[in-house]
Amino acid sequence: MKALVLAGGSGTRLRPFSHSMPKQLFPVAGKPVLLHCLENIRQAGIREVGLVVGGRHEEIRAAVAACGLDLSITYIPQAAPLGLAHCVLIARQFLADEDFVMYLGDNVLAEGIADLAERFRACPAQAQITVTKVANPQEYGVAEVDHDGRVMRLTEKPRTPATDLAVIGVYFLTPAVHEAVRRVQPSARGELEITDVLQDLVTQGADVRAEVFSGYWKDTGSIEDVLDCNRVLLDAIPTANLGAVDGTSQVTGPVVVEAGARILNSRVVGPVTIGAETVIVDSEIGPYVSVGARCRLGRAGITDSIVLDDARVHDVRELRGSIVGRSAEVTSSGTTRRRVILGDHSSMRIP
Ligand code: TTP
Repeated sequence: MKALVLAGGSGTRLRPFSHSMPKQLFPVAGKPVLLHCLENIRQAGIREVGLVVGGRHEEIRAAVAACGLDLSITYIPQAAPLGLAHCVLIARQFLADEDFVMYLGDNVLAEGIADLAERFRACPAQAQITVTKVANPQEYGVAEVDHDGRVMRLTEKPRTPATDLAVIGVYFLTPAVHEAVRRVQPSARGELEITDVLQDLVTQGADVRAEVFSGYWKDTGSIEDVLDCNRVLLDAIPTANLGAVDGTSQVTGPVVVEAGARILNSRVVGPVTIGAETVIVDSEIGPYVSVGARCRLGRAGITDSIVLDDARVHDVRELRGSIVGRSAEVTSSGTTRRRVILGDHSSMRIP
């Protein structure tokens, strides 16, 4: 089985960050979302990956090259975000006549996809979609499924959903999908929709199955989603100290300190990840904080937040639920509780 990972798209919901980085590289629990996805693929025993990329492919290539995963990656450029099924169309040569898993590169499944892949390998269906129960099905593709798990109907964002089963971003597909992709027309928003392709398969009488994923799933499309995902993935980190913690600092709970990072006269309460070469002085960090590489935090107090690479936070004592972009700077002389969403290369001084 191969994997087709989708890392193009526009990422409008993750602005301002998606103005300056591909949203799939947004870090949660110390690692880009895309790398969590590629790790899940490797754990499922898959090595050959087609990676669909849009305009920001250089950054994605660099991040993937640096991650050291034992994967064979073929980059598939997509000239414009013309839909999830368009990605299948342009990947036709890479996919050849093999089964594959199509995995949206901004989706996080904390428990991985190995079980789902096993169920697909053991099942003779033409397609296996993944569904999960949600409180707001009208915002998703919704599946109607019979008592055997066979999909009867799929509807994109229905006003009155027939079930609470949302289709999530991991689709196991066989070569039968290629004909279906050629049969469907672009939707009203001009995209080739995977929901239409799957519905076409159902209409043609193909055996399309739904597997219920009951673990933690998140489409990290928005700011609130990445913060939620950060909390959940941080809960599973180990403790690892490759940096330096001085004698006046206190580090408790699961904390990952990457190589070259230094913690001086500070209190760090896990779960927290601290990126390489970051320096933390006179600060209180955690719980639920991911700090990127080469950051400088001085007299800072940060909880439940993500601080991206090369950012600086000084004299801001109660920062929470916040995201500080790459090379951004937050300073303050006050001590009031703060929430900031600060894009890359921004600067903010709180009076
Ligand atoms: P979406 O989140 O559905 O689309 P988007 O990236 O355009 O985001 P937004 O709605 O915030 O504007 O995409 C799901 C995943 O698939 C994501 O990783 C981007 C990727 N994708 C492509 O690679 N090509 C495409 O044509 C589309 C639509 C998405």
